[in-house]
Amino acid sequence: MQRLVLPLPGNEIFATRLASQCDSELGRVEARRFPDGESYVRLHGNPSGRPVDLVCTLSQPDPQFLSLIFAAETARDLGASEVNLIAPYLAYMRQDKRFHEGECVTSLSFAKLISGVFDSMVTIDPHLHRHPQLSGLYTIPTATLHAAPLLADWIAQNIKDPLIIGPDEESEQWAGAIAKRIGAPHKVLHKTRFGDRSVDIEVPDLSEFMDRTPVLVDDIASSGKTLAVAARKLVAQGLRKPECVVVHALFADDAWNELVPLFSRITSTEAVPHLSNGIKLTPLFAEAIVKGLKD
Ligand code: R5P
Repeated sequence: MQRLVLPLPGNEIFATRLASQCDSELGRVEARRFPDGESYVRLHGNPSGRPVDLVCTLSQPDPQFLSLIFAAETARDLGASEVNLIAPYLAYMRQDKRFHEGECVTSLSFAKLISGVFDSMVTIDPHLHRHPQLSGLYTIPTATLHAAPLLADWIAQNIKDPLIIGPDEESEQWAGAIAKRIGAPHKVLHKTRFGDRSVDIEVPDLSEFMDRTPVLVDDIASSGKTLAVAARKLVAQGLRKPECVVVHALFADDAWNELVPLFSRITSTEAVPHLSNGIKLTPLFAEAIVKGLKD
């Protein structure tokens, strides 16, 4: 039976390409608020007897969440044979432990809520830190895709003599994989975080790379402070104005305006719709969906 792809509002461009690449039917989710703030959700497309793929990148998880759950419950109620979540950006991955007494471990709570409603999930480069795999959090089958090969190929095609730089130890996994694929050198910086919008970064001596273009790569640009501090420190060492390539373009609040003057160019994947999007992901997602949505 032909699959039905249903984008939550804001996910239509990604979902349209995905549906065409999976040879699925494209439907629509109508979602709005009643005057009292409650959510109204209506599915356009018939889920009966077929797999339904709800597309919702979770870059605004709190306002999006209830509509997403209502849409999933409705698809099941109307007879979908399975209800899957296609979430290019998976939220609530960073609070993966109780750092202070009484805190909610939101990674775990969010995973329980999603696992209770969907049959499976596919995402790309979730921020896995203390849990090496999503199966440490999610009880449903998940497929974890990786953007590093696509980032690497984009860099190889668009940037001459790159020096790949990860702004912190966690970015070694992306920086190392990208550098290896394109045969470029790479370095990883050391970051200390003091608060949500406050970081410091130590940069080693990079004087041997003065003739290269520094390319900062990271999974997430959120407040943008990690990238901003790293870019300023590289230029202070005498390196060229860097390029930036990120997977998830969250750019919270005024992050974009702060970052634009610091980089020669900022490029992101289409995991989160943003004017910096330049790297397509739908072929990767389509392949995973057609293969069966499993790691
Ligand atoms: C954290 O370790 C991630 O890899 C990113 O570096 C981080 O989420 C970026 O956050 P921000 O843009 O707020 O500095």
